[in-house]
Amino acid sequence: MIGYKELGLVNTKDMFAKAVKGGYAIPAFNFNTMEQMQAIVQAAVETKSPVIMQVSKGARNYANATILRYMAQGAVEYAKELGCANPQIVLHLDHGDSFEICKDCIDMGFSSVMIDGSSLPYEENIALTKKVVEYAHAHDVSVEAELGVLAGVEDEVVAEVSHYTKPEEVVDFATRTGCDSLAISIGTSHGAYKFKPEQCTRDPKTGKLVPPPLAFDILYAIEEKLKGFPIVLHGASSVPQDEVDTINKFGGKIPDAVGIPEEQLRKAAKSAVCKINIDSDSRLAMTAAIRKYMAENPDHFDPRQYLKPARDNMKKMYVHKIVNVLGSNDKL
Ligand code: G3H
Ligand code: 13P
Ligand code: ZN
Repeated sequence: MIGYKELGLVNTKDMFAKAVKGGYAIPAFNFNTMEQMQAIVQAAVETKSPVIMQVSKGARNYANATILRYMAQGAVEYAKELGCANPQIVLHLDHGDSFEICKDCIDMGFSSVMIDGSSLPYEENIALTKKVVEYAHAHDVSVEAELGVLAGVEDEVVAEVSHYTKPEEVVDFATRTGCDSLAISIGTSHGAYKFKPEQCTRDPKTGKLVPPPLAFDILYAIEEKLKGFPIVLHGASSVPQDEVDTINKFGGKIPDAVGIPEEQLRKAAKSAVCKINIDSDSRLAMTAAIRKYMAENPDHFDPRQYLKPARDNMKKMYVHKIVNVLGSNDKL
C-alpha cells in the first residue's frame, strides 16, 4: 500500500472547490504513453494549471498499471524540474468498473477514482458507488460517480443510445453514495464520431458537419438541484477539423469525424462542470503529426524523429484547451 501523498499527488477536493467557485474547469487528460505524460506536464507547467492525469482500464492493459503509476510520480518530479514548485497533479482512474479495480488503484497511489456504475440499475449503481466511497474516503481519495449513460463506448460497456441524466435523481444519488463529483450525460459521447451525419447539419461553406447543441437545460437543472457540487463532463473532445484534415491528407481515413464545438465547452466550463475529460483530441493530435512526418520523411525510422513532433502537437493542443477553453490557467 502506498499513499498518493507520498508521491506528491493531490486529490480533487480543493481544486474542484476552487474551479466551481471560479467558473472554470480542470482538464482531465487521458494518458497511455510517456509522450502524452510529458506533453501534459509541459502544458500544465507552462500555463500554471492544475491537471488531472487519467488512466483507463485500457491504458492499464496497454502500458501496465505499475508503469503508469510510476509515470505519474515522474510527472510530479518533472513538473518541479520544469520550474513548478507546487504542482497540483491528480492521478485518476477513468471508468473503473468494479470495486476491485478502484481498490487496486487506491492501494497503488491513485488520488482519485471513478466508479462507473452508469450501466447498472439505479440501486445497484448506488450500492457499488457507496462501497467504493467508503474505501476511498478512508484513504482521503476522491470518488467520481456517473448517472445517465453516454452514447458510444464506455470502455467495454456499449450504449447504443444516450440516456440523459435525470435531474430528479441527482440529490438522492449524491447524498446516498457520498461521491465527490458526478459525471452526467447531456449529449456528449466518447470517441471521434460523436454524432451521426444525420444528427448534424452541414456548413454550406466548408461542407463540415455541425453537431446539435448539448442539453444545457439538463445541466442547469442539475446545477440548481446540487448547488456547488462538482459536475464532470465526459466525451468532451472537440475533434479539431485541422487535425482530421491532416490525418485524411496523409493517408488516414476518418471522414465525418465530429466532436463538441469549443464554444459549448467554454459555456459548460463556466457552469458547475469543473472537470472536462479529453482523450480523443490527444489521439488525433498525435496521429496527425506522425502521419505528416512519416509522409514527408519516408527515409526516417528513428521513433524519436516522429514522436517529437507528435509530443509537441499534443502539448500545443493541451495548452490551447487550458487557456482558450477551460480557463484553468494561472491557478497555481
Ligand atoms: O472513456 C474512454 C477513454 O477515452 C479511454 O479510452 O478505454 O480506449 O483507453 P480507452
Ligand atoms: P473523448 O473521447 O471525447 O476524448 O472523451 C474522453 C473521456 O470522456 C474519457 O473518460
Ligand atoms: Zn469517459
